[in-house]
Amino acid sequence: MPDSTDSVDQPTPRRKPKAPIEEIGGRKLKPATLMMGHGFDPVLSEGSLKPPIFLTSTFAFENAAAGKRHFEGITGKRPGGAEGLVYSRFNGPNQEILEDRLSIWDGAEDALTFASGMTAISVLMLAYCSAGDVIVHSGPLYAASEGFVAKILSKFGVTYVDFPAGATREELDAVLEKAKAQAAEQGGKVAMIYLESPANPTNALVDIEAVKAARDAGLEQDCPIAIDNTFLGPLWQQPLNHGADIVVYSLTKYVGGHSDLVAGSIAGAKKWMDPVRALRNTMGGICDPNTAWMLLRSLETVELRMQRAGDNAAKVCAFLAEHPKVEGLGYLGMISDPRQQDIYDRHCSGAGSTFSVFIKGGEAESFRFLDSLRIAKLAVSLGGTETLASHPAAMTHLSVPDERKAQLGITDNLVRISIGVEDPDDLIADFDQALAAV
Ligand SMILES: Cc1ncc(COP(=O)(O)O)c(C=O)c1O
Repeated sequence: MPDSTDSVDQPTPRRKPKAPIEEIGGRKLKPATLMMGHGFDPVLSEGSLKPPIFLTSTFAFENAAAGKRHFEGITGKRPGGAEGLVYSRFNGPNQEILEDRLSIWDGAEDALTFASGMTAISVLMLAYCSAGDVIVHSGPLYAASEGFVAKILSKFGVTYVDFPAGATREELDAVLEKAKAQAAEQGGKVAMIYLESPANPTNALVDIEAVKAARDAGLEQDCPIAIDNTFLGPLWQQPLNHGADIVVYSLTKYVGGHSDLVAGSIAGAKKWMDPVRALRNTMGGICDPNTAWMLLRSLETVELRMQRAGDNAAKVCAFLAEHPKVEGLGYLGMISDPRQQDIYDRHCSGAGSTFSVFIKGGEAESFRFLDSLRIAKLAVSLGGTETLASHPAAMTHLSVPDERKAQLGITDNLVRISIGVEDPDDLIADFDQALAAV
């Protein structure tokens, strides 16, 4: 392996890049079309129509001079950076193709893939925070993300200020003032604004445009806005178009889409990706080639799967909304709060297929409902081809203190459902019989 690992922090342009076909006759090709071939040249792989899985830990230089040229590039002795791949902790062909294709969905310049969504989130935060810094984040976050900020980063002198997802511009201004004062007291800066929208498990939306306006008005230094777009992305919300700088995914969910892999990613402008790439180069945590290959396959159908799951969820929610044993729904297609509806109208193009159903009663009634489901599987996670149901208060968010759970609306009668691509009437029949058993 290279003797100077931390110097390899530049993106690595391809050795023999094929000119990408991104438009035909002035027509910009859609992501669904580009998922079939973008970023892969069969000529470089014996004509193989699909990319082979590249199982190698290191990459051979064509000759010693090429090796020298490579290291001149990465050490800055020669302008232009490194050319091609060098070592598999930094990157590999399958991951590069995946990163190119993920960038397309969010209109991003660059993307990085990771071994899990939590690896992506952890490496991202570590890359931007130093001792004394403050992270400003929306609430709720996925419990492990919240835990990483509150329990892990705090060990290194990083603190946080959080705000409720629906916060207005005025509230956000006040939050940033508080964060700036806290950072000044600690001798640091506001290092990152981290959002999750919709939030897991409440589906609460964050006003990304208001966050950007507040950041631009209130913070002098370069402070990126990152957003976890796992619940609606990549199809129904493009946060980079609304003022976010970095979009974060658990690819384990809709992008992977078959509940058979774990991976994560971030995407955005190169200038935001480079510090994270440098830390990933040092720490590792890149998605492995097999998983990257599976994700390339998944991306070919992501639009089809998400559209079908979204249509199914609309039908299931129409049924549940009228059911006498259902107290309410946390579904983005049926928002009752005008502020949330306004954010939805500006930011989202679809309601997704993950929602909360509030069963009349408490934990006992919710458990009876869950235990009676016959098609829907009782499991955490979301965004797969199959319908899943879980109880956040007793499962994914069990570690959240009771007071905060109450504040965030994570109640004992909240069941989270992720609708899959099954026949919608079969799903309705399943929910109907399970509610009858409550
Ligand atoms: C919104 C959200 N972000 C991040 C994660 C973490 O992703 P992973 O399980 O791939 O590490 C999850 C997992 O459930 C999630 O729901």
